[in-house]
Amino acid sequence: MRISGSECRKLVGRLNPPPDKSITHRALIVGSISEDGMRIKNPLLAKDTFSTIDCLKKLGKDIKMEEGKIIIEPGNLRESEDILYCGNSGTTARLLAGLLSGHNFLSILNGDNSLKNRPMGRIVEPLRKMGAIIYARNKDSFLPMMVKGGNLRGIYYELSIPSAQVKSAIILSSLFADGETVIKERVKSRDHLERMLKWMGVNLEVEDQTIRIKGNSKISGGEMSVPGDISSASFFICGAILIKGSQIIIENVGLNPARTGILNVLKKMGARIEILDISEQFNEETGDLKIKYSPLKGIKIEGDEIPFMIDEIPIISLIATQAEGITKIKGAEELRFKETDRIKAISYNLREMGAKIEEIKDGFVIEGPTPLKGGKVKSFGDHRIAMTLFIASLIAKGETYIEGFDCVDISYPNFLKDFFSLCVY
Ligand code: S3P
Repeated sequence: MRISGSECRKLVGRLNPPPDKSITHRALIVGSISEDGMRIKNPLLAKDTFSTIDCLKKLGKDIKMEEGKIIIEPGNLRESEDILYCGNSGTTARLLAGLLSGHNFLSILNGDNSLKNRPMGRIVEPLRKMGAIIYARNKDSFLPMMVKGGNLRGIYYELSIPSAQVKSAIILSSLFADGETVIKERVKSRDHLERMLKWMGVNLEVEDQTIRIKGNSKISGGEMSVPGDISSASFFICGAILIKGSQIIIENVGLNPARTGILNVLKKMGARIEILDISEQFNEETGDLKIKYSPLKGIKIEGDEIPFMIDEIPIISLIATQAEGITKIKGAEELRFKETDRIKAISYNLREMGAKIEEIKDGFVIEGPTPLKGGKVKSFGDHRIAMTLFIASLIAKGETYIEGFDCVDISYPNFLKDFFSLCVY
């Protein structure tokens, strides 16, 4: 992909961002075990969520599309004849491992080269504690992984890593366990599954950072709707903040506080962001945002705010190159275990484009403002790196060539179409 920054003078207009990826995965998975099935309005149709759909179909689920809705018929899961291929999707692999721990048949999960290098020991350990028979390659570290569900018992588990995928895997297996499962989060992460299961009538309580789930409770289905994905919207939010004269409105975007860390950080940096209205649908806050071009200042980002914006750190790093002063991002070591090592990928690419960025063990130190220049950069097969580089190219002098841009299909197949609808030439 070749882009010349001067092609887009500013971003103006209204955008309905793609539906939320995390919520779509969860709706598909819990929809497949609900007593009455599930109808999902406005689901994300992208490579990652298709991985979940394909796996659930292999597990015997009847899933179809009707007038833009995904319909999941009620009915039990059964053993798949094939390996369950999770593609690039960590959420698919980890959440399905949790779900399948509660099913008394054999499943084998695998993924692409990126997913085969992402840590699985973090789910093997708690799921085994609950009674699942579960093994993974290289001393239980990586895919392929085999799971045979069994008689599960509730456990007390303290999460040492702030990971919603690990938490969700345990919650899903707890639905099939005898007795109560108690999960304590040291640092809170996104809570879409907890909210969805409560909406579905499951006996689940959340108090501070402790979640209690009573096993074997009734899971009722129905019809739900998925709000827009703030992580996908963040590329255009940041694009509008960076490009002079821009003003955009993002409509119907999910504003769950466990996902809006990016808005808090941008506001602290001086961004002009207004929340126009906010409502609640299916236990999730949604609303519209108005964003204007804004001069920014550097800040420190660390600690508990990191999980609330974990997928937005690449684009925030780009923002930091244009902010006045130093931005320090610390406590983000988890970025090393994403679709690629995002700390390395961001440092390499932004440095190639002329930014002053220092890579540290758990984040970066970025000094701004620095004018960026085009050149040759690489996505490393990571959709969020590819979209960050696209926005970087819009403010860079000269032409930028992004190697491996196609991976945006993982979460945002209409990224370029949406960009063209906002771009004023
Ligand atoms: C996700 C959780 C996060 C996030 C990922 C989606 C989820 O991963 O980075 O894109 O849907 O639960 P971790 O649980 O590994 O932090």
